[in-house]
Amino acid sequence: MKSALGLPKKVKLKDGRIATISFLSKKDSVRELRGFVNGLVAENTYITDDKKVTLKEEEKWKAGRISAFRKRNAYQLVARIAGKIAGTTGAGRGKGKERGDVGLSLLIAKGYRGIGLGEALLRTNIQVAESFLKPKTIFLGVLAPNKPARALYKKVGFREFAVFPKWTLHKGKYVDEVFMKL
Ligand SMILES: CC(C)(COP(=O)(O)OP(=O)(O)OC[C@H]1O[C@@H](n2cnc3c(N)ncnc32)[C@H](O)[C@@H]1OP(=O)(O)O)[C@@H](O)C(=O)NCCC(=O)NCCS
Repeated sequence: MKSALGLPKKVKLKDGRIATISFLSKKDSVRELRGFVNGLVAENTYITDDKKVTLKEEEKWKAGRISAFRKRNAYQLVARIAGKIAGTTGAGRGKGKERGDVGLSLLIAKGYRGIGLGEALLRTNIQVAESFLKPKTIFLGVLAPNKPARALYKKVGFREFAVFPKWTLHKGKYVDEVFMKL
């Protein structure tokens, strides 16, 4: 059943495949979610995690995300293609006085990039965030060398507003973290 926020929804991608975007639910397998994130960790791509997550950690993360959804503090969207997790995107408020600032995250698994899934997930996330969290600011952080992500964020309307110089240790080198807002 569709919620008032328009989910789940189906999106046709550039290669003809169909993605279904839904809220993270109790039914999503912790093992599969962990497999998804650990695939990105193993790739050592532009994400913060640098260690594989354990089942316990993933279980805790999932429970936290679902409970934060009920409190309207955060949520996670999951995109599946042919039943498999292909991408996820999250939104979360800052704490206390920063509750109006909503930060987004976006992850697409290796075999599903370049077909429009990242853009579809991000646009959906922004729509959901605007109606569900009513943010003052929607922002995100991205590592400076992550050209695909920076191009996507710019295309969708994000603009750079701050740079933390040499902030994040990525592949043995400190790189800038760029903050962008809508
Ligand atoms: C960055 C990422 C989210 C992009 O998602 P994606 O599904 O591959 O992107 P899409 O196919 O939806 O492309 C949308 C836009 O992004 C940009 N883009 C995507 N891949 C690109 C590439 N390889 N080079 C340059 N720009 C690229 C383009 O502007 C593209 O629009 P276009 O198709 O009109 O040219 C995805 O590569 C990813 O998850 N990477 C690993 C994890 C990561 O870096 N997450 C972001 C952390 S901030």
